Amino acid sequence: MDQRNFYIETYGCQMNVSDTEIVNSILMEDGMQPVDEPEDAEVIFVNTCSIRENAEERVWNRLKEFKAMKRERDNQNMTVGVLGCMAERIRDKIMEKEELVDLVVGPDAYRDLPKLLADVSDGQKAANTLLSLEETYADIKPVRRNDNDVSAFVTIMRGCDNMCAFCVVPFTRGRERSRDAESILEELQQLSDQGYKEVTLLGQNVNSYDDGDNSFADLMYKASQVDPEMRIRFSSPHPKDFPEELLEIIAEQPNLCNYIHIPAQSGNNDVLERMRRPYTREQYMELVEKMRNIIPGVTLSTDIITGFCGETEEEHEDTMSLMAEVEYDLAYMFAYSERGRTLAQRKYEDDVPEDVKKRRLSEIIEQQMDIQEKRNKKEIGRRHLVLVEGTSKRSDEQLCGRTDTNKMVVFDREDYEKGDYVEVTITDCTSATLMGDPIKKSSIEEFEQETVAA
Ligand code: 5AD
Ligand code: SF4
Repeated sequence: MDQRNFYIETYGCQMNVSDTEIVNSILMEDGMQPVDEPEDAEVIFVNTCSIRENAEERVWNRLKEFKAMKRERDNQNMTVGVLGCMAERIRDKIMEKEELVDLVVGPDAYRDLPKLLADVSDGQKAANTLLSLEETYADIKPVRRNDNDVSAFVTIMRGCDNMCAFCVVPFTRGRERSRDAESILEELQQLSDQGYKEVTLLGQNVNSYDDGDNSFADLMYKASQVDPEMRIRFSSPHPKDFPEELLEIIAEQPNLCNYIHIPAQSGNNDVLERMRRPYTREQYMELVEKMRNIIPGVTLSTDIITGFCGETEEEHEDTMSLMAEVEYDLAYMFAYSERGRTLAQRKYEDDVPEDVKKRRLSEIIEQQMDIQEKRNKKEIGRRHLVLVEGTSKRSDEQLCGRTDTNKMVVFDREDYEKGDYVEVTITDCTSATLMGDPIKKSSIEEFEQETVAA
């Protein structure tokens, strides 16, 4: 049986996108070929997410579709594998002979894929869901297959030790460990050589990055020095221990982006305590002020959960008021979804009715859209340096790209191209997008000098 073509469908966060690129590399080293359509593949992988119930449901449904596809092929010449965060759960289901998948591989076991695939070709089912204390895939050169050759993700650490009460990630991805800075900086240099203009450094909690020699602030400084024309972003830090030194470094280095994703989760201290988020609303607000003082013009985004265990109407109002007080430029908002094995599942009752969670979610979304529109209106008339990512979704005649502050801008194509830095004057906006007039092609250095001079 020829099992040389593989297809990977990726769900979940940026970390999963990055993991898929690692898996591409491991399989291609083994002589396999990536393809873009499941129909063309003998091996189909789903790289899965467990963060909320609906993320898992989507994966289950997709696996059923692949099962049907396999039946159409008379069960020949097709292997279905599950990668990523759902691996452990799926493994149990396999034991229960649900027979949806042939292969299950957890996030720390990707090096074992060639061997596991060989076991499957021998007609067995195969699984490796062991979590590791050391694996960082530092030596693997990710193979990036999307047509975005402007910006890339680079994983700098894996796992999470924070144990927020709601979160399944410590169970799916294991203990926290940092990849050595040298291999990260080498990868940044290679990306710069390949023409990439923007890199996002990824970790479940980047503040606790520590490779023995470098803190996260050290790493960010060194990353900024690799290529002054390559933008550096990062995701995500935790409010409990955000290093002030890093704010100074971001303020000083023009290619470290003035945008920080700083998840609050809730605006009420009792809820934060139940969530095991070790900071208060007051401490969070202090941090926000510090960010805005040290990095003038910095934009902020957040993650918010509504309807966490025991959340009262007053506690929900506190989240509304925190969001109104901070005025985030962007927010990722979710209704609480109970996950197995988490502290919240063991200790608290998931007692906010589904319709109340949904209503509270709608309320914060609606408020947030108004805030975003208001904040975007203030951008009208300002100049920004936009890194062009490609053609706008709406029209071939327009390009889109992001400001340093992570706002999406759409403008007329003229003679500009993907990967250009273009100076743009903002002329209009919606709650999600800015519209602008391009002025000229520029660079981080040139734009910085002009801004300082002005
Ligand atoms: N239910 C809802 N949202 C969750 N998140 C994490 N766990 C859950 C859960 N059980 C959200 C948090 C986190 C983001 C990545 O997903 O807001 O910051
Ligand atoms: Fe990413 Fe968390 Fe989903 Fe895993 S569970 S894919 S770490 S968001």
